[in-house]
Amino acid sequence: MSNYHIKHLEEYYQVYRKSVREPEKFWGEIAEEHFLWRKSWNKVLEWDFNKPEIKWFEGAKLNITENCIDKHLYRTPNKTAILFEPNDPNEAAEHITYKQLSERVNQFANVLKANNVGKGDRVCIYVPMIPELAIATLACARIGAIHSVVFAGFSSTALATRINDSDCKIVITSDGSYRGAKTIDLKGIVDEALENCAGVETVLVAKRINSDINMKQGRDKLLQPLLDKASKECIAETMDAEDLLFILYTSGSTGKPKGMVHTTAGYMVYTAYTFKNAFQYKENDVYWCTADIGWITGHSYIVYGPLANGATTVMFEGVPSYPDFGRFWEIVEKHKINQFYTAPTAIRALAKHGTELVDKYDLSSLKVLGSVGEPINEEAWHWYNDNVGKKKSPIIDTWWQTETGGIMITPIPYVTPTKPTYATLPFIGIQPALMDENGEEIKGNQVDGRLCIKFPWPSMARTIWGNHERYKETYFSAYENMYFTGDGALRDEVGYYRITGRVDDVIIVSGHNLGTAPIEDAINEHPAVAESAIVGFPHDIKGSALYGYVILKDSGENRNQDNLRKEINQIITEHIGPIAKLDKIQFSEGLPKTRSGKIMRRILRKIASNEMDNLGDTSTLLNPEVVQNIIDSRL
Ligand code: PRX
Repeated sequence: MSNYHIKHLEEYYQVYRKSVREPEKFWGEIAEEHFLWRKSWNKVLEWDFNKPEIKWFEGAKLNITENCIDKHLYRTPNKTAILFEPNDPNEAAEHITYKQLSERVNQFANVLKANNVGKGDRVCIYVPMIPELAIATLACARIGAIHSVVFAGFSSTALATRINDSDCKIVITSDGSYRGAKTIDLKGIVDEALENCAGVETVLVAKRINSDINMKQGRDKLLQPLLDKASKECIAETMDAEDLLFILYTSGSTGKPKGMVHTTAGYMVYTAYTFKNAFQYKENDVYWCTADIGWITGHSYIVYGPLANGATTVMFEGVPSYPDFGRFWEIVEKHKINQFYTAPTAIRALAKHGTELVDKYDLSSLKVLGSVGEPINEEAWHWYNDNVGKKKSPIIDTWWQTETGGIMITPIPYVTPTKPTYATLPFIGIQPALMDENGEEIKGNQVDGRLCIKFPWPSMARTIWGNHERYKETYFSAYENMYFTGDGALRDEVGYYRITGRVDDVIIVSGHNLGTAPIEDAINEHPAVAESAIVGFPHDIKGSALYGYVILKDSGENRNQDNLRKEINQIITEHIGPIAKLDKIQFSEGLPKTRSGKIMRRILRKIASNEMDNLGDTSTLLNPEVVQNIIDSRL
């Protein structure tokens, strides 16, 4: 018997040991007993971190949607699979049962087929948090098409880059989206993007805000009439275990976004198993993850992980501040949420508005509180624990990444004793290591270093779309035979991990990964800008915010600096999206550089964070005099 559901700490240690000593046996048992396969595997795991090549369940045949949908049709056809809570609290919530989900996914799959989409084709999904988003992703999986969901807050330029990088032939979108009191013209953004995407043949448009939209003849089609006519039956495509399930873009510290590639069987097994245990999901629980499906959190823990367990998963269209800052808690009360999973930035934003709006609602249904996306600071942890969980719902601080596909380090609620700001223990099967700067593993406790993973786990990304060399370089070259996460971490006296943050040039703003290079590239497009450098600095709600040092081509004295700042943020919004806007823009005469011409971001970070007494040795710089100048004109 496999240990699918871990219930106490001793069992955790026992199962963990087994998963590490005999990984193939362990994962083989989990996979065999809890999932539907059309054909079993030849080998559970084959791997080589040098190539790098990782294969789980090779030779197995399956379709993930049979595990996420069909499997539940026999036992719980009328259970709510997706509970859609609209942006406007006065609009009724929609309960989509497993049976209805099956029909709607099949109809959507048939529409895709009728539009010439088949196995292996890439489908770009640029849809807000409405049921069609989840249904479209599952419809792709049903027919073996590879979905590439792009967060519907990205700009047209960012969308076009992603569409072109993976050669998507079709885009699924909506007329627009609701976000609090605002509406966003998504179709307009798609139209703009497609001016630069020659490969897109078809655009399917869902109606959400009923706005007037431009429909390009021969290319654009309204979705609903096609769905209405489509059959509710669609035989699932038989997929190999290692066939691609999806591409999801994430920022790198340099260069264009990386299309992380996830494959079918390992991703399914790991997201399902982590969902069950990390959230201690029980039969009739209602689970809510507030993320957007445009991020990995939504892929793994709104769609695939919950549905593979036959769970009820909530999809929320709106924002935490609309119509007021009590919206989350109103939803918890209304749908009697049992597991609630959100980001520290949301907790900090809500905490700022006091406890009145929390106390107004009955939160007694809550059993587990999750946190993800960035380190959760002590203050936010306690606020969450005291006011939301009333000190009785364990907080699981889950550390993981787009690249890891599923949760890697987390307490298991009611099993692992929690500790504020600590992600605590590795999940079953995960073998972390802390490395020093010389490439040696740091053993023992009460140490800190760079966080690596020593052994493959089923849901790890297999490559970067179109660039395996970059995959190798980014994740497998820093340390021999190790996956390098890009994060620093410490291990306390009992072996608990605390993630200390990125050790590269990725900055996490409100839980979103932002690379400095694409933002700097955008700024440098402004005709007045000669050069720029972006660093992060502490921000009480966003965790980190962006601080830009900008050098102008002329001295800039004759320009209105406030206007320039606005223009720079406008360019960033156009190239990336509003999430990448700078909080502070300082015009400076130069940037501190090493003799080889590299910008010394360490110094810029310190200045932005107001840690001027701690700048270290600046005498070896090419231009040490510039440091004082930057300090003097600091914002
Ligand atoms: O730095 C870590 C941080 O978010 C990065 C991964 O970002 P992304 O791929 O967008 O995925 C986010 C959602 C899984 C990590 O390298 N991070 C994520 N979770 C935590 C975290 N940092 C500290 N604590 C966490 N719980």
